Amino acid sequence: MKVLKGRFEKDIDKDANILNNSISVDYKLYEVDIKGSLVHSKMLCKQKIISQEDYEAIAQGLEGILEDIKSGTLAIDYEAEDIHMFIEEELTKRIGSAGKKLHTARSRNDQVALDVKLYSIEKAEEIIELLFKLCQSLISLAKENLNTIMPGYTHLQIAQPVTFAHHVMAYVQMISRDMERFVDAKKRMSTCPLGAGALATSTYPIDRHFSAEMLGFKSPTLNSMDSVSDRDHLLELLYDIANYMMHLSRFSEEIVLFSSQEFGFLTLDDQYSTGSSIMPQKKNPDMAELIRAKSARCTANLTGMLTMMKGLPLCYNKDMQEDKEYIFSSVDIVINATKVFTGMLDTLKVNKDKMLKMAHKGFINATDMADYLVKKEIPFRDAYDIVGKIVRFCVEEDKNLKDLNLEDFKEFSDVFEDDIYKYIDLEYILYNRKVFGGPAPEAVQQQIELTEEILDKLKNNS
Ligand code: ARG
Repeated sequence: MKVLKGRFEKDIDKDANILNNSISVDYKLYEVDIKGSLVHSKMLCKQKIISQEDYEAIAQGLEGILEDIKSGTLAIDYEAEDIHMFIEEELTKRIGSAGKKLHTARSRNDQVALDVKLYSIEKAEEIIELLFKLCQSLISLAKENLNTIMPGYTHLQIAQPVTFAHHVMAYVQMISRDMERFVDAKKRMSTCPLGAGALATSTYPIDRHFSAEMLGFKSPTLNSMDSVSDRDHLLELLYDIANYMMHLSRFSEEIVLFSSQEFGFLTLDDQYSTGSSIMPQKKNPDMAELIRAKSARCTANLTGMLTMMKGLPLCYNKDMQEDKEYIFSSVDIVINATKVFTGMLDTLKVNKDKMLKMAHKGFINATDMADYLVKKEIPFRDAYDIVGKIVRFCVEEDKNLKDLNLEDFKEFSDVFEDDIYKYIDLEYILYNRKVFGGPAPEAVQQQIELTEEILDKLKNNS
């Protein structure tokens, strides 16, 4: 603590220093921190709070520091208290006393609030882009599988036939809602806390509107105390990430299941599988499993930060220094997981025959047989009962519904005719589910077109 020494007679305790220092985490903010400082110093100059000469020295110094950190010429000093102090100290080292003027009319409280907001905006944009790409990959997969019949499940029991395209598009709907949430979260990141100072602005004639505009915000924040207390936008980002990762986790769970020998619906590319140290035959879906596990961490980050915030009085409290650990962790996970997941899908092999074979099992056409009886004027509940008895009979006889002959059917109801075979045919029952939002290829095609429009709009508005 070289810079903030005036008030203190002694140095900070060694272990207290470890607890206090945040540079090992917040070094990631160096770029946004310098961006904020450049605008702050420009505003100070415009308002004649610092001279043109000092401003030019500060701007040049900061740009040099940015370049040197990026190129690795300037190593981060992990002994510094945090990235903000490190940059300020380095600036003073480079340009002398002008560097000491940078922090005029500013506190680390509004500086940090600004930095995490700029970081969140940048990352939200990156995430929106990645989600868009993932949806594009999923949509191509759906387009290739419009006619790939597979069983749809409830309770993980075979229920009714769908297509792999419809299955995949269900996830596109989830992810497009997630994308919308990120776009929406960004809207609430559009006010600039810079100039709020420690909590009560300052007596300098600063121009907060100028700073806000220069930094790309819509306006300055309206209340200086709220500005330095508020971490809502981080919590919102954490929630949006947690929710999206939950979707990715469910999808991952299905990839694990569907690539098992028992299902055999999907084969993962070698690039996204790993082997076993002992069993030579193994090809494990580790990426899907890890994404499933990482989603837990994203949920933990959300609950962790909510819990950290809930007891804090206004305004800044040092507890808030910890916000970065949660947010960096979730952001890093979501970016990596989405890239891996997209690659995994792009290289996935779909075993259409296995899917079709399985779709013939589990009396998947039982509901359609009941619907057939309804067409023949039997009330649905009675039809349900008749088909239930036929299914029981087939289970005992180890047969499928379509294996029974007409006499067998007539034992259960005399309304059965030869046309029953058509009505319980797998393709027939799938192609006739053409209701809006249904699994028939023409309905899924329409779903894809409408979804593409939604996604394009979201991307263009982000
Ligand atoms: N590293 C700190 C943080 O990230 C800086 C803020 C310090 N502010 C203060 N009032 N002590 O929160």
